[in-house]
Amino acid sequence: MSNRSRPDHFTLKARKMGYPARSVFKLEEIQKKWSLIKRGKPVLDVGAAPGSWTLFALRTLGKGACVSAVDLKPLTIKAPPGTILRFRQGDVFTPESADFLAEGGLYGCVLSDVAPSTSGNRLVDARKSWNLVMRVIDLAEEHLTPGGNLVVKIFQGGDENEVKARIKALFREVKTFKPKAVRSESMEIYIIGKGFMGLNQENQL
Ligand SMILES: C[S@@+](CC[C@H](N)C(=O)[O-])C[C@H]1O[C@@H](n2cnc3c(N)ncnc32)[C@H](O)[C@@H]1O
Repeated sequence: MSNRSRPDHFTLKARKMGYPARSVFKLEEIQKKWSLIKRGKPVLDVGAAPGSWTLFALRTLGKGACVSAVDLKPLTIKAPPGTILRFRQGDVFTPESADFLAEGGLYGCVLSDVAPSTSGNRLVDARKSWNLVMRVIDLAEEHLTPGGNLVVKIFQGGDENEVKARIKALFREVKTFKPKAVRSESMEIYIIGKGFMGLNQENQL
C-alpha cells in the first residue's frame, strides 16, 4: 500500500465522525480561524462531492440550515434532521446550474473545494485550477450577499497572485492559508475573502 492509499490519521478521524473525506479538516481549520459560515445564512458549496464540506456546513449551521451543493459526481451524505440540503449533480457553470444557484441564494458563504481532473503536469494542472477558481469568483460575485464570505482552493504554481488581487478588490479582507490537513506534497492552498463588498448592483438589497 502506498502512503497515499493508506488511511492516515485525518482519514480515520473523518470516518469516525461520519464524514466521507478527510478534506473536512481543512474546512474545520478555516472555520475555526475565520468563522466564514454564519448561523442563519445559506451556504453554497461548489465541487461538493463526496460531501464532507457540505455535511460540515450543515452541522455547523444546525437546525434550519440550508446548504446548496453542486458537483459533477453524486454526494454520499445525508442531511442531518432539521436541515435542508439542495443538491444538483452537474457542471456548476451551465445555465441549468445558474437557475439552481439563483433559487437557493443569496448566500452568506460560498465554499469552493472544486478541483480539475489532474494530468500530473503541475503547470497544466495549476492553469486548469486557476480557470475554475476565476469562474467560481464570478459565481460568488453574482450570488453572495453583501458582507458574505468566500473560500476557494487553488493549485499553486500558476497565477494565484492574480486570484488574490481579484478577491482583494471584492472583499474587505483576504487571507491565504495552507491547512495542516493538506498533504505535504500537495500544491493546493486556500484563499479566503471576508466581507463581500457587494459591487454587483443586483446584490445591493
Ligand atoms: C476535492 S473534491 C471536493 C471534496 C469535497 N469538498 C468534500 O469535502 O467532500 C473536488 C470536486 O470538484 C468537482 N468538480 C470539478 N469540476 C467541477 C464542475 N465544473 N462543476 C461541478 N463540480 C466540479 C469534482 O467532481 C470533485 O468532486
